[in-house]
Amino acid sequence: VLRDLEARCATPAERLRQVADAMAAEMRAGLACDDDSESGDGSALLKMLVTYVDSLPSGVEEGLFYALDLGGTNFRVLRVQLGGKEQRIIKQESKGVSIPKHLMSGGSDDLFDFIAAALANFVASEGEDYHLSEGMQRQLGFTFSFPVKQTSIASGTLIKWTKGFAIDEMVGMDVVEELNKAIRRQGLDMKVTSLVNDTVGTLAAAKYVDNDAIAAVILGTGTNAAYIDHAHKIPKWHGPLPKSGEMVINMEWGNFRSSHLPLTEFDQALDVESLNPGEQIYEKLISGMYMGEIVRRVLLKMAQEASLFADNVPPKLETPDILSTLHMLMMHQDTTPDLKTVGIKLKEILGIESTCYKTRKAVVDVCEVVARRGARLAAAGIYGILKKLGRDTVCPEQRTVIAVDGGVYRYYKFFAQCMESTLSDLLGEEVASSVVIKQANDGSGIGAALLAASYCQCLG
Ligand code: BG6
Ligand code: GLC
Repeated sequence: VLRDLEARCATPAERLRQVADAMAAEMRAGLACDDDSESGDGSALLKMLVTYVDSLPSGVEEGLFYALDLGGTNFRVLRVQLGGKEQRIIKQESKGVSIPKHLMSGGSDDLFDFIAAALANFVASEGEDYHLSEGMQRQLGFTFSFPVKQTSIASGTLIKWTKGFAIDEMVGMDVVEELNKAIRRQGLDMKVTSLVNDTVGTLAAAKYVDNDAIAAVILGTGTNAAYIDHAHKIPKWHGPLPKSGEMVINMEWGNFRSSHLPLTEFDQALDVESLNPGEQIYEKLISGMYMGEIVRRVLLKMAQEASLFADNVPPKLETPDILSTLHMLMMHQDTTPDLKTVGIKLKEILGIESTCYKTRKAVVDVCEVVARRGARLAAAGIYGILKKLGRDTVCPEQRTVIAVDGGVYRYYKFFAQCMESTLSDLLGEEVASSVVIKQANDGSGIGAALLAASYCQCLG
């Protein structure tokens, strides 16, 4: 089973180049396609959503700003005091709250009331250190990490849910309107001045500290990328040409798919049984919501057909989603000589009593195959973006910075290293030396607050 898995998950450089070319071609197709709806006949694989972010924070932003960050493992509320060019970020504070599972598929008011209540508590607990100028309304950046068709920098309708969310009545609704209504129900005086995807927030935060940032990638519960393109290269943009000449595009690359992707029977079964069959195929190979579940499916087959865990098939191993990517990485990164952590995790999570070294090693090998495939495909995606932007060739004095965030990148060291070395191999030594992958911690919240600041100033 393991050998067969290895063969089917193989990602030789040639295949990765094909994936990158397909990604670049789909990017062009998405930029030309006006139909951002989910079901529209003419809709493209990659939505390539226009974000209305045509200038990124420059450092002059000043004042007190808030952000709500919804869509990762945790929901976060954040406030930041910006001090302008000299002082930059004077102070920032954030609070993470986990979203109860039932709210992810309940009613829209229930979810938004929960979020707004967390925001109200956060504001109520504010100390003396934060200053809001006299008569000013609190300004809020909203990071909403799902595909949204934006109608302005501070409005947009939900195209579809991804990851674990499934509140059907919200599809097609303006998410800012819903948030504003919930904020009013809490009696809060606040205004949403920017609506951004987590990739866009991360890019904004990266650009604030490094002017060479051109793209941001999230490798977390889900996966996605945003990058800066020339507005005149976006055929579907019919608005005025921005002063900067640029526009940030939210790719929604999680929905990418191609005949070059190495899909196995395990991926196909996972997809069919998922909340969104046939969608987010690339995301289902790469991101934290799915990698652990792929490993579980492989181990189950090994237990059934190769008696991996002696003669019995552990009943818990048949439970979908019981093995998270966090469990997977803890087992994979076990450095003890006898793979003690693997033994402990197998017992804790799957109720598997005692395992010999060979069995534990087989579990590690499965994790490695799945993580390596995900990391190499993620690198191919980034390579695709660089190809689209013409940054895959040597250009003297050009530095390219790509910000990366998300739990998988932050905590799964094997994944992060494998992705970076694969990207270097694909680019070749000379180009790779001018491409910098920068870890951005919790950037999207800060980025949303920074964009709330720059856009509220633009709006006067
Ligand atoms: C965080 C961002 O750093 O990364 C979130 O602030 C984002 O907005 C998240 O969604 C993705 O991470 P994860 O692993 O929680 O999905
Ligand atoms: C999913 C969402 C996308 C988000 C990504 C990372 O793919 O559709 O909007 O950026 O997850 O959180």
